[in-house]
Amino acid sequence: MRNPFAYSNYVTGESFCNRKKELSELIRYIRGSQNVLLYSHRRYGKSSLIRQVFREIKKKNLNIGAIHVELYGTISEKDFITRTFQALSQLESNFERLLKSVSKSLSNIKLNLSIDPTTGGASVSPSFEAVNEKTILEELMNILSKYSQKRKLVIAFDEFQEVASYTEDGFERRLRSFIQQHSNICYIFSGSQQHLITEMFNSTNRAFYKLAESFPLDKIETKEYVPWVQKLFSRKNVHLSVELIEDIVARFENHPMYIQNFLFHLWEEPRKKGFPPEIINNVENAIIEKRSLEHTVLWETLSINQKKTLKLILLNNGSNLFNADSLKSVNLKTGSLVTKALSSLIRKEIIVKDKSYLIQDVLFKKWLGKTLSL
Ligand SMILES: Nc1ncnc2c1ncn2[C@@H]1O[C@H](COP(=O)(O)OP(=O)(O)OP(=O)(O)O)[C@@H](O)[C@H]1O
Ligand SMILES: [Mg+2]
Repeated sequence: MRNPFAYSNYVTGESFCNRKKELSELIRYIRGSQNVLLYSHRRYGKSSLIRQVFREIKKKNLNIGAIHVELYGTISEKDFITRTFQALSQLESNFERLLKSVSKSLSNIKLNLSIDPTTGGASVSPSFEAVNEKTILEELMNILSKYSQKRKLVIAFDEFQEVASYTEDGFERRLRSFIQQHSNICYIFSGSQQHLITEMFNSTNRAFYKLAESFPLDKIETKEYVPWVQKLFSRKNVHLSVELIEDIVARFENHPMYIQNFLFHLWEEPRKKGFPPEIINNVENAIIEKRSLEHTVLWETLSINQKKTLKLILLNNGSNLFNADSLKSVNLKTGSLVTKALSSLIRKEIIVKDKSYLIQDVLFKKWLGKTLSL
């Protein structure tokens, strides 16, 4: 029987747990062509949510065209344009029709056709010879605008924070000026480098200031995981008790990806009589062990004060880090050393500041606990 759990890419359908409220809210924004800024910590499920909402649109026959543009790894305006062009093929399964509708809206640029060797799908990308990026961006935005006059559109720019590092002059401003004219398109800007992406949209001096409604994505609540896990395991005729599922969810602090990771391995375990605690612990340890090399390498890149500060966070659950006893317990002489280490750890995305300081990666946190014998 196929393992329904997955943790290395986005998940949809039966592997997607709940998010009912988020789905209906997003559909409301999409129908109203209201732009959305979807953000969360890493691996909470933004891309999955985007894909799932696109599926719902199709299922409900809402007649809205949907495009998911993955911007991760793009480093220039040219990359941005190419990825968006390529994503246009999501609008039409019929390639010739796509080509016809795209070329109709073009006046100055030539297109290259390509076949994706992995999927066999065809896509178009513009030829950058003889025409500069500014013109091509304009043409691309024109295509979107014309298309949206016939049919409502939703365009998700995933990992949108990448745009902040492009060096082309005024790219964000030019993009904004087009987006603002598109009254029949909902743009979803999604990203995980929270401070970067919220800064792009919340600073008065940035081009995207107040261009989109904030949509922070939280973890999934325990009560939502329970029926979802039970239903999937019942296919194997395995009953998991509510207590066991609550325990698993708590071990991974409700983090969607780690819970899927754990359940994927639990699914592969030969079932004896239920799952006694030693099996649960073994599965957890195996997951920690698998990542231990990566965590060792990360640990070795840290300065001694950063290491002590991580220990301080673990010992004190992320708060009261500056009181004298806490500092003494890890042998840190002054609070200013902690302040400095905290900001480097935040920059490296190892910790985040919420109400207290949290270690982002639950598995790294568990590995640290073991390594430091806490
Ligand atoms: N609704 C969900 N139900 C169950 N598991 C989920 C759900 N959403 C995400 N996941 C789990 O989290 C993993 C990461 O999901 P996804 O790639 O959508 O997150 P993301 O926030 O886009 O990540 P990144 O920060 O890397 O862009 C998935 O592979 C899956 O294991
Ligand atoms: Mg993603």
